[in-house]
Amino acid sequence: LSEISRVKNLEKIHFGPYDVETWYFSPYPHEYSETGEVYICEFCLFHFMYERQLRNHVKKCQIRHPPGNEIYRCGDISFFEIDGNKQKTYCRNLCLLSKLFLDHKTLRFDVDPFLFYIMCQCDNYGCHLIGYFSKEKESTEGYNLACILTLPQHQRKGFGRLLIAFSYELSKKEGKVGSPEKPLSDLGWVSYRSYWSEVIVQILLEARNNSEEVTIEDISNRTSIKQDDVISTLNYLNALKPYKGQTIICLSEGVISAYNKSRIKHANRKIDEFCLQWTPPH
Ligand code: COA
Ligand code: NA
Repeated sequence: LSEISRVKNLEKIHFGPYDVETWYFSPYPHEYSETGEVYICEFCLFHFMYERQLRNHVKKCQIRHPPGNEIYRCGDISFFEIDGNKQKTYCRNLCLLSKLFLDHKTLRFDVDPFLFYIMCQCDNYGCHLIGYFSKEKESTEGYNLACILTLPQHQRKGFGRLLIAFSYELSKKEGKVGSPEKPLSDLGWVSYRSYWSEVIVQILLEARNNSEEVTIEDISNRTSIKQDDVISTLNYLNALKPYKGQTIICLSEGVISAYNKSRIKHANRKIDEFCLQWTPPH
């Protein structure tokens, strides 16, 4: 833990065609801080201190996708499920890479208790890592996501939202509600707020169109979003109003027009539940 909270040791990573500035410390081998850079194979995630080492590696490396089962494919987006216990090296290297962008003092490098859901954009050459989330195999607190990352070169294009949506699709298949592990980063919070708001407002508007009443429990059951998160989102949207001694859900015009903009913005990238080929592990 003391090691992980140390000051930033690397300035830059080389990853596929990208050179990316790092954000935080990550416990890569000590000697890497001499150059402040690391060269990473974008497919197997092995890391090297020098470019020529990576070049030699790339000539031999046969891997073109993450080492797990492809459980989702829709257009050029695929998800692979990886068991931390079975693919320790890959998952540790993924944690090393993601620690560069996570302030968490608690990012865990004991990968055995986790499943990793890796999102890739695929082309004729291979499946390129865009982002991932990890999930405890057994969560006593009901978490459906531990860590989430979109690689910085792919951020702000809606991929984080896809990862979040996917985590809830898994919860729906499990017949459970879930919530992300706390603490979340600021970027994590904005992304969740945005996702929860859109999903919840959509349900409320559909209900209104069908003259149907929905409760917080209904919303939670349909979305797998934990009730506490539904309530905090409704509060954030200022949608809970006292009415004749009860509390009712009431959406303002501002919230509805924000929802309509958000829906248009996110229309081209969605998780299609019918593309998920998965049954819960237990
Ligand atoms: N500043 C302000 N808003 C931002 C933002 C930024 N830098 N980055 C994302 N957002 C907002 C987007 O505008 C979007 O909301 P909108 O669609 O309603 O406008 C929402 O957050 C999600 O954006 P999206 O493009 O889907 O997410 P992303 O691919 O950039 O990934 C994270 C989001 C959190 C996964 C990414 O920022 C990340 O990997 N951060 C580092 C790791 C981390 O902090 N993880 C969470 C803790 S475990
Ligand atoms: Na975005």
